Amino acid sequence: MIPVCEPMLAGNEKKYVLDCLKTNWISSAGSYLKKFEEGFSRYCGLKHGIAVCNGTVALHLAYAALNIGPGDEVIMPTLTIASTVFAALYCGAKPVFVDVEPDTWNMDPIQLEAKITKKTKAIVPVHMYGHPCDMDAILHVARKHRVAVIEDAAQAHGAQYKGRMAGSFGKLSCFSFYSNKIVTCGEGGMVVTDDDHLAQKCRSLKNLAFLTERRFFHREIGFNYRMTNIQAAIGLAQLEQVEAMIVRRRRNARLYHELLSGIEGLTLPTQRKDVRNVYWMYGVVIEPSFGLQREALMKKLLSQGIETRTFFIPMHNQPVLKKAGYMDRGKYPVSKRLGRCGFYLPSGSGLKKDQITYIARCLKAIR
Ligand SMILES: Cc1ncc(COP(=O)(O)O)c(C=O)c1O
Repeated sequence: MIPVCEPMLAGNEKKYVLDCLKTNWISSAGSYLKKFEEGFSRYCGLKHGIAVCNGTVALHLAYAALNIGPGDEVIMPTLTIASTVFAALYCGAKPVFVDVEPDTWNMDPIQLEAKITKKTKAIVPVHMYGHPCDMDAILHVARKHRVAVIEDAAQAHGAQYKGRMAGSFGKLSCFSFYSNKIVTCGEGGMVVTDDDHLAQKCRSLKNLAFLTERRFFHREIGFNYRMTNIQAAIGLAQLEQVEAMIVRRRRNARLYHELLSGIEGLTLPTQRKDVRNVYWMYGVVIEPSFGLQREALMKKLLSQGIETRTFFIPMHNQPVLKKAGYMDRGKYPVSKRLGRCGFYLPSGSGLKKDQITYIARCLKAIR
């Protein structure tokens, strides 16, 4: 079976984890945490990194650090994972949705401005599948209306927009290090920022909001969102290889492009001018002219040993939102079509040339 995405643990992961075990630094303090936080935030071009136990809580922490709460609105694309939305719901805030662009599958900045109200507290662009959002346009709207930007860069480690790293544009930005991410800790996440005050606030909130001058004394509700030194040890070893992994993912995407271009009814991922798409996942979209529906195609590929995964189901009319009283009956035609017709092919950094050739051959033969 060719898995849709497998971690590649080809560096110092084992050595660093064994070091944690040998030295007893297995909990949420230790040198690997510090090195991983410093290393990853530096990689993004920022001063502070606050490591947490996954990307979902990284988003919650970022929203909480900006005091997002009941009565506030947070604008995000409807084509995203539940984490972006749930983090707003955890705060009692209302998620407000915009459709995505048909080529990048990212938040459409043209539709964004119409969704701004007096209650808007933050805009959350999601860099979908490794292609950065149109940050100039999004920041323009955010500045005009004095609204904070929180980037959901969970899928976009090392992606660049006009030479700057995804994750370096927002007031706060959030990453995931789940096992399918380019840099993984098994499970893990990080909030990155240049803002000293917000960094301090995230650090406090992630650790039960203990007062620094008086332990076990609390003025605020905090969370236990701590990452362990063992997770950070894996993350640091991964970070040492991040550029090599991006080279592999981009090379694999080029090969997919070469082999799959020109197939009627099969839309391939794009890379706009001035960006570096890191192809976290190599997504494709099946149009009616392909002659086979997505589910049937995915099933056939699976029978030939090729695992694939569908795009997200748009969030605006999911039952959970109805329950929360935020169901949105607006029309989001691009997200709707992508949610129905998009899926991704195996995309891990360790994917081999002959595997991609096999996948492309199977896909063409099915048609
Ligand atoms: C866009 C996006 N945001 C947030 C997350 C949440 O990350 P985690 O699974 O580490 O909680 C993910 C996970 O895949 C994601 O894709």
